[in-house]
Amino acid sequence: MWDAVEKKFGRDGIEAFHRLTLLTLIAQFDERSKSKGYSPSILSRFVHSFQRIFDAIQDPAFEHYKTVGDIFLKDLALCRQRMFPAGAQIVVPQSSFHRALFYRGGIGQMSKFAALMSKTGGNKNWFQIHTHLLELEDFNPNGWDECYLRIADMLAIYPSVRGMWGGSWFYDPALEEVSPRLSYLRKVPAENGAYVFYSNIDIDGGALATSESRKKAYESGNYLPKSYSLMWPRRAMLDWAKEKRSQGQT
Ligand SMILES: CC(C)(COP(=O)(O)OP(=O)(O)OC[C@H]1O[C@@H](n2cnc3c(N)ncnc32)[C@H](O)[C@@H]1OP(=O)(O)O)[C@@H](O)C(=O)NCCC(=O)NCCS
Repeated sequence: MWDAVEKKFGRDGIEAFHRLTLLTLIAQFDERSKSKGYSPSILSRFVHSFQRIFDAIQDPAFEHYKTVGDIFLKDLALCRQRMFPAGAQIVVPQSSFHRALFYRGGIGQMSKFAALMSKTGGNKNWFQIHTHLLELEDFNPNGWDECYLRIADMLAIYPSVRGMWGGSWFYDPALEEVSPRLSYLRKVPAENGAYVFYSNIDIDGGALATSESRKKAYESGNYLPKSYSLMWPRRAMLDWAKEKRSQGQT
């Protein structure tokens, strides 16, 4: 359908179509969210994301709704409520991860993966986090803590969700050496009950996109980007959130 619209009305036509789709979905938010059960902290993030989308629509220099790329698809997913915004990350509410992780990191990973499965009951029905390049203003240690707290609020509403998981080059323990500034992303969950598993070599996953120092380390053979998956079981995440809130974090 998108191809047909673009063929008939050109790039401006498809952009208008995408904008109208997003606005229509936002206008239907109350109706479409009735069966969802969002926490107040997540509802406030929807308001933030929708305001950002309104601003983008009114900005003549904004190009990302002219093409079907990562940014448009993530905004569409937010407007369709296929994902919910949590601040530093956006979240797929019903996701699963590959059981093949069991085989990818040697014997130690096998036993850790088996422990995770026995603790949480399976690889299905997890919240999956993703980075949205238009919502990076909270991509810092405090912003991520706030994001975990919002996700914990959603775990409390959905008792059948087994926890939160994400896959990224930024969970690689090698960042301790290459980009220590980012090692909080793995450390905070891992030191509070999360599991980390090696997944695959990941040259194009974003590790080399923004950082000259990682690019140089890669080119000199001192760094090979690898993707790791991090799973934070619900009980451990909720315990962390309770502790954090008892220290006054909102
Ligand atoms: C994930 C991402 C948002 C993290 O951004 P970030 O917090 O700015 O961290 P980065 O290490 O990427 O920073 C890139 C550059 O910004 C600057 N920078 C970032 N944080 C800084 C800080 N606190 N102080 C000074 N400079 C800083 C540095 O120049 C750094 O380059 P360097 O590594 O050569 O020093 C960013 O790497 C990114 O957009 N990547 C591409 C998309 C991606 O990977 N998405 C995730 C897919 S799973």
